[in-house]
Amino acid sequence: MRMEKEEIQALIRQAFQARTFAYTPYSHFRVGAALLARNGKVYTGCNIENAGYTPTNCAERTALFKAVSEGERHFTAIAIVGSMEGEVNRLVTGPCGVCRQALYEFTGPDLTVIMARTEEDYIVTTLGALLPYGFGPANLEADDSQSPT
Ligand code: THU
Repeated sequence: MRMEKEEIQALIRQAFQARTFAYTPYSHFRVGAALLARNGKVYTGCNIENAGYTPTNCAERTALFKAVSEGERHFTAIAIVGSMEGEVNRLVTGPCGVCRQALYEFTGPDLTVIMARTEEDYIVTTLGALLPYGFGPANLEADDSQSPT
């Protein structure tokens, strides 16, 4: 989806706001995400770590699961910000592989992904570019044209 600069920056701002709630006593790497639904509603998320490490949930999936659990299934964009505690991001934070897959389930390749260091410094790409040939619901649909004779 084509987005105006102001829209992009507003979503980045919400990701930074969500990041203030990050629970990161182990990695101290704090991430915020803001997921824009087709109807204009924004669902935010932060990363939530765990002493058992593996139950840790990324910011992107927190936002996605909040949205889906409230009945939302159509999304157009996500903004992601991440950095070590008290630092300005050196690199942009791209969604991890698991989050790419989780998002792909609902958006396919068309989701706009905004990876931001600051409100002025960001990369805009798509989930299709980050997860080429993604595996999704369509892959599990029966293809009648290839049914055995
Ligand atoms: N993390 C996210 O929340 N999103 C990403 O896309 C990358 C990684 C979190 C998980 C963990 O709490 C911390 O960053 C370090 O891996």
